[in-house]
Amino acid sequence: MSDDPNKMEVTRSVLFDFHGVQMTKYFTENWEKIQNFQARPDDVLIATYPKAGTTWVSLILDLLYFGKTAPERQTSIPIYERVPFLEITFPSMDSGVDLAENLATSPRLIKTHLPIQLVPKSFWEQNCKVVYVARNAKDNMVSYFHFDRMTLTQPDPGDWNTYLHRFMEGKVLFGSWYDHVNNWWKKKQTYSNLHYMFYEDMIEDTGREIDNLCSFLGLSPSAEEKKQIMYGVQFDNMKKNDMANYSTFNVMDFKISPFMRKGKVGDWKNHFTVAQNEEFEEDYKKKMKDHTLQFRTQV
Ligand code: A3P
Repeated sequence: MSDDPNKMEVTRSVLFDFHGVQMTKYFTENWEKIQNFQARPDDVLIATYPKAGTTWVSLILDLLYFGKTAPERQTSIPIYERVPFLEITFPSMDSGVDLAENLATSPRLIKTHLPIQLVPKSFWEQNCKVVYVARNAKDNMVSYFHFDRMTLTQPDPGDWNTYLHRFMEGKVLFGSWYDHVNNWWKKKQTYSNLHYMFYEDMIEDTGREIDNLCSFLGLSPSAEEKKQIMYGVQFDNMKKNDMANYSTFNVMDFKISPFMRKGKVGDWKNHFTVAQNEEFEEDYKKKMKDHTLQFRTQV
């Protein structure tokens, strides 16, 4: 726990089975309001498994939509208020639903980590645009491990080896990575307003991925705007940006690990032993049967 007196008193939460998914009280307490959330046709939903690059894509979308018309947002409102996290309910903070309902922007940008079957149905009824970001399981797991260490409301991650096995069994907050990425991928076959992107592609060529996003969203930023966005969303610049780096979010202890940690593809190699990698790969093959969904673990 941080010794900063301004940080609120928090306790690590406990996982429980919630409609077949491992969840904690901070994401289920407001459940009726979450499920009854009324989406609007122009809402844009940013959906991810935790640690797949949500904040990166959130900042890109916020800049694309509002960077020119409301530049003051960038220096005065933390990203987690510009793009509310729908299912979050923390003590002494506005709930994600309240923040989303009070957003004055059009469109409203809304973030969720929910697996597809738990997403409020109004998003589908309103045919909202959805941007899904996925990241390869190994780097996703490493990032989540460090996030769980430094976020003092998350379930205790335990040591790395324990965590690796819990992740493989889906016993982490928001459940199985395998189910999450596969079920969102399946949705793409029947729901055309879903843009499925990969963290590794963003690392490889951020400009290309922004262009693809713009085609999907029907946006056409000028060359100058795009240049500014590219600059603002570079890892080092986001890390320095207090409105994007979560330094104002009082349940994280950056002395344990920063939110903007490494921002790389392949950090898993610094964590997995050879034996852990072999065990992981064998299990992965059994769980990832749809070969149209492919991840890269290096670029
Ligand atoms: P690491 O922990 O591997 O560094 P989320 O926003 O979904 O919580 O994801 C956080 C992960 O995305 C962290 O990964 C973070 O460093 C990375 N990230 C955030 N912004 C990034 C950027 N501009 N470029 C590359 N990675 C970024």
